[in-house]
Amino acid sequence: MKLRILIGILLVCTWPLLAIAQSGRGGSAEPSVPRLGDIMNAAQLRHMKLWFAGKARNWDLAANELRLISASLEDAATLYTGIPVTNVTTMSAPIQSLSAVVEAKDSGRFARAFGELTSGCNTCHQSMGRGFVVMRLPTEQPFSNQVFQPQAKP
Ligand code: HEC
Repeated sequence: MKLRILIGILLVCTWPLLAIAQSGRGGSAEPSVPRLGDIMNAAQLRHMKLWFAGKARNWDLAANELRLISASLEDAATLYTGIPVTNVTTMSAPIQSLSAVVEAKDSGRFARAFGELTSGCNTCHQSMGRGFVVMRLPTEQPFSNQVFQPQAKP
């Protein structure tokens, strides 16, 4: 008898908490929008991976990283309408030329094309009052858990 009362009290007390937790967990079907800074952080990682993939002449990986960077920038532009369209479109030229270099597996032109992409990142940061976020060519390879050398195709 005592136990049933105790369980009853517990249920009554925790019921409102459960209700709050559930409503907070997406009572509405709104998908959560990633923060712009988080989209950019992902772009930063891929920017770095792209560099090391290109240096290792792993063109499949480089193409993939470049595709993901473009997707991140597209997401930023669609989700954050405050970003001026011209800031996004100015990225398309460096992305296209880097994409051509990667497709041509042209190591000789890779560093310059990558540099142009990087300048594009910085141009937008400067024009949006984020001139303190300065991207540059990566130096040390920090990814000890990923292989950048091209793998033999099965
Ligand atoms: C169209 C404009 C635009 C372009 C292009 C752009 N960024 Fe950004 N980036 C921003 C804005 C705006 C912020 C500030 C976001 C914030 O603070 O919420 C930002 C912030 C960042 C940050 C800081 C995030 C943090 O958590 O500290 C990094 C890193 C970054 N960008 C990397 C890049 C890289 C790498 C590229 C190029 C591949 C790039 N961005 C291209 C607009 C842009």
